[in-house]
Amino acid sequence: MNTIKIAIDGYAGTGKSTTARMVAKKLDYTYIDTGAMYRAVTLYFLDHNIPFEELNEQLIGALADIRLNFKPNENGDLCMFLNGKNVANEIRHPRISAHVSPVAVHGPVREKLVNEQRIMGKEGGIVMDGRDIGTVVFPDAELKIFMTASMDVRAARRQAELEAKGNIMSLEAIRDNLAERDHIDANRAIAPLKKAADAVVIDTSEMTFEDQVSLVCKMVENKLKQLSS
Ligand code: DC
Repeated sequence: MNTIKIAIDGYAGTGKSTTARMVAKKLDYTYIDTGAMYRAVTLYFLDHNIPFEELNEQLIGALADIRLNFKPNENGDLCMFLNGKNVANEIRHPRISAHVSPVAVHGPVREKLVNEQRIMGKEGGIVMDGRDIGTVVFPDAELKIFMTASMDVRAARRQAELEAKGNIMSLEAIRDNLAERDHIDANRAIAPLKKAADAVVIDTSEMTFEDQVSLVCKMVENKLKQLSS
């Protein structure tokens, strides 16, 4: 076996996405950012005035009209397309971050996205990051990582990412959003954020981006050796 499934779960702002994207590039694997899918559904609901605080018929009906794809942009980076439109930048906006966790609690939303994620990853050769990848989407993933970091580090990283995209937000507002999302994500009834029993924890508080990537690549190398022996 030379291609495996790598599941990276953890809290927002711990470096999951940037690490997963770079690891996938180095291994020539496909990177799937499942948070982008929940964000795209949230964007659709907001733009179409679909109520999402409680589960309702309108929300369930709207799911049939949502088509999600990852397609490369002109630089070859995989971007989130919602019904044919590249929404990669729009879904990072604070208005989406403020509403995505309440959207992600709903069973029918999760069922749709988990089905699509399983189809995308079934052949292996993927790095998928999210909240429930090692626990629900791919409990059979050969390598499971759970990323964590201190709140101060996470908020500072998120602020720098937002600034790079022209969104200015105070550290306090970012901390509030991260803490609120952690709370909803970890306490929802369906597929809550939690470490899979067989996941390896990486605390990225004191690590550089390069450290994170090389550690995960080393773990993949070891896993492949172990599987082939
Ligand atoms: O990874 P992210 O911060 O972009 O994810 C946005 C939200 O989507 C997150 O707060 C919870 C939800 N999410 C989820 O419920 N399950 C996933 N596998 C990925 C994200």
